[in-house]
Amino acid sequence: MPALLLSGLAVIATAGCQNERSAKTTAQTATDSVGAGRIEAGREIYRNETFGDEGFWTDAVRMPQGMKAAKLTVLDALKAGVSFDVDALPTDLKAAFVKELKTDHSPAKAPKLNDPATLDALLTNNAVIGMVPKGGKVGVTCALCHAITDQSMFALPGKGSIGKRIDGPTPHGLNVGKLLATAANSRALFPTLQLQQPDGTTIGRAPKGLTANSSEAEVDAYLSNPNYYPIGTFDDSPDGNGNSIHITPFFRQDLAAPFGSSGQNDKLNDFNNTVYTALFDQSNLLSPGGKQFIHLLGAAGGDSIMAGYAKVLATTGVTGYPYVTAPQKGKPGDPPTPTGKRVDEQKLRDLEAYVRSLQAPKGVVTNATQVASGRAVFIAQNCTSCHNTNQGVPVSTKLIPMKTIWPGYAPKVLAQRQAPLSPIQNAPGTFDDKMVVVDASPGGGIRGNALPLLLDLARKPVFLHDDSVKSLDELLNPKRGKTAPHPFYVVRPAQRSEMIAYLKSLDTDSQ
Ligand code: HEC
Ligand code: HEC
Repeated sequence: MPALLLSGLAVIATAGCQNERSAKTTAQTATDSVGAGRIEAGREIYRNETFGDEGFWTDAVRMPQGMKAAKLTVLDALKAGVSFDVDALPTDLKAAFVKELKTDHSPAKAPKLNDPATLDALLTNNAVIGMVPKGGKVGVTCALCHAITDQSMFALPGKGSIGKRIDGPTPHGLNVGKLLATAANSRALFPTLQLQQPDGTTIGRAPKGLTANSSEAEVDAYLSNPNYYPIGTFDDSPDGNGNSIHITPFFRQDLAAPFGSSGQNDKLNDFNNTVYTALFDQSNLLSPGGKQFIHLLGAAGGDSIMAGYAKVLATTGVTGYPYVTAPQKGKPGDPPTPTGKRVDEQKLRDLEAYVRSLQAPKGVVTNATQVASGRAVFIAQNCTSCHNTNQGVPVSTKLIPMKTIWPGYAPKVLAQRQAPLSPIQNAPGTFDDKMVVVDASPGGGIRGNALPLLLDLARKPVFLHDDSVKSLDELLNPKRGKTAPHPFYVVRPAQRSEMIAYLKSLDTDSQ
């Protein structure tokens, strides 16, 4: 048992806290027994640590069983945007892949790539990045959504690849919704699905919400429809709203605070602990602390989601939950311990050290003159009132209020919450859907958007957190209108091209 658990000694932390509430909660989690983060150890956590989530993904969501039942092959997984680690391929399969990848990939010419047993063998060998074998089960790690490969063996354009691991950059072609739909019991993801509210309405991209009585087929139809669950996005909020958002880069996290597009966490390790305790084991939301957390966030609406969830798990024969291995610690609802649990503090620090150390890809320069002109436009257009020109320094930590980032924001209040939480409120359209329930207000912040890293933009196929804009040209084209989200435009097409060249060129060496 880690000393951390036994000591229970709170060191009074004062520095860097935005308000009294977070000062108190920081004090609860800081202890003397935890050392500085170690980058190498953090890499192992990033790639392989599950904190017991294989229980959730295998016994509750039944992901590997669903993959088997669907006879999923390596080719299918590549089409779904999955990345494979070439260094973990068994020698015989590696040799077979080299041969088969040169063919037309038909079952006759590429038997291994088309054989579901091959995918199973790769899972067992930890070659499917982010899906990790643990004692006969399969768990999920950060690498699933926060890693790509160097494509040294193969790449399906815009989709998956086989190569050496590159941790941090977003796999933009990863069809998370499709993978979740392939699981045999996708209903176990109930709190993060788009649900019907008690009054029959629903918030999200689908016209109709799901209920506790929805069938597996209905849930799968929602998850696997890219109009409802766009490619490269994941719904990371257990709020019953269908608000899957684009996966953000996970490199240079020393530059990225606050964390999450709604800026919900000032501290990286609080965000990361939430991923392990509330997202990778959603059944932990039904623990007493988990229920308290959801009640604080969603009041009666939250309670009713949890009642529906308990029913779904009972109906689908899920038992023995929660699965996450994290000691009881702190107060439920507090940022360091949303469900009243916190995974191993040393491992959180190691992971933190690793993701701070991960470097951003080099910018892409096709025309240096255009890049230089684009930089001048970036300054002249006042983009610098929010964004940096030097991408090697932290983004501004201020949140951009909803009305500024989206002048057309006209929300309707759905429910009041206890201070300092903002009321639950929703506006038409998808841009605020992530922020309806989850925003920075639990920590005393405002409802708004955090500033993104302007890095690795040349690889990015869609823009804004809700994927609502399909290209940089569209983002910067005044055609979107004065009241659209992020209404900061470059009117002249020639200047717009320069700006785009500039944005694609950005890396942490850009001054
Ligand atoms: C199934 C996909 C998926 C997996 C797996 C995943 N994430 Fe993420 N991650 C996302 C999405 C989507 C976002 C964007 C969230 C947002 O902007 O609010 C994100 C954003 C983040 C951010 C915010 C970064 C920033 O700059 O604001 C952190 C921190 C993070 N993830 C941590 C983790 C950790 C730690 C793990 C592993 C324990 C993990 N994620 C695994 C999908 C995933
Ligand atoms: C008032 C503050 C503000 C101004 C001014 C502003 N931005 Fe932004 N920008 C943001 C915020 C906040 C986001 C993140 C929006 C989101 O989460 O969807 C963003 C997102 C972006 C993105 C998308 C990043 C991605 O990964 O999808 C680009 C590119 C961008 N801004 C470029 C610009 C340019 C170019 C200008 C000037 C013409 C500009 N911005 C002006 C605040 C601003």
